[in-house]
Amino acid sequence: MRTKITVVGAGNVGATLAQRVAERDYADVVLVDIVEGLPQGKALDMLESGPIVGYDSRVTGTNGYEETAGSRIVVITSGIPRKPGMSRDDLVMTNAKIVSGVVRQVVAHSPDCILIVVANPVDGMTQLTMAVSRFPRARVIGMAGVLDTARYRTFIAQELDASVHDVQAYVLGGHGDTMVPLTRLTTVAGIPAADLIPAERLESIVQRARDGGAEIVNLLKTGSAFYAPSAAVAQMIDAIVLDTRQVLPCTVHLEGEYGISGLFTGVPCRLGEGGLIEVVDVALTDDERAALYRSAEAVHQVVEVMDARRDEIDPSLGSLTQGITIG
Ligand code: LAC
Repeated sequence: MRTKITVVGAGNVGATLAQRVAERDYADVVLVDIVEGLPQGKALDMLESGPIVGYDSRVTGTNGYEETAGSRIVVITSGIPRKPGMSRDDLVMTNAKIVSGVVRQVVAHSPDCILIVVANPVDGMTQLTMAVSRFPRARVIGMAGVLDTARYRTFIAQELDASVHDVQAYVLGGHGDTMVPLTRLTTVAGIPAADLIPAERLESIVQRARDGGAEIVNLLKTGSAFYAPSAAVAQMIDAIVLDTRQVLPCTVHLEGEYGISGLFTGVPCRLGEGGLIEVVDVALTDDERAALYRSAEAVHQVVEVMDARRDEIDPSLGSLTQGITIG
């Protein structure tokens, strides 16, 4: 039987991701959305691209969850995106209700799947997904760092007229505004970026990467980024399906690593067949550690907002904040 990968949400991120996965030709793809006809139409269109692009992936669209049964990976892109002027945190309660409902349906049909969460604010939504699914942490992973790092790497490569392949970088912390790029460990063809780019210029590149999502929201006016976000998820899926064991920055449930417990936040993760294989510990300076904790505090606040109103999200939901310690 071919591997099945489900993408929930047939909007820009979901549909583009479904196409990227179909084109990889290693799995069948099920696209789910509540809007009647939308996932079916997009899926059929993708299926009909197969003979041209050259893939045999079966792509199915559906408004229900029966077709998703037995999925190996389920990606949750559902939820509303930001509008100009909104922060990702402004979406929290609306998306929490949507995500918790989706997770319930998904896990009922695919109890052994690996969940990849994309809905924003992503660190908080991933924390909610773990609570609703009751999955072990290896199988609940949020996408943020690959995207944030890609933006940062793009701007570094542009600055130096270098190949993006040569730019290596780590990003820690929550998605976006409080993310912590480790400029000290950023290299270009093995050379520290700090030796190649003046400190002030590097800081403005970091800031542009932090604001990278908002920059695109402001340009698009309706909707948020989707090409780079879907490419980021596809890279995570590659690592799992192909068991590459690549280290990618992802948001995962920390259990003491980096001095944080009980909270999802972005750290370098080795991904493979079972999902999260291990959190990769990078020795941090005091300043970097302090910045990571500030970022984790911002995630904690979002989780507290959900916890205080968890009856509205799902009356059967247990505590979302139990056991959280930072530093
Ligand atoms: C972004 C959204 C996906 O950063 O959070 O573009």
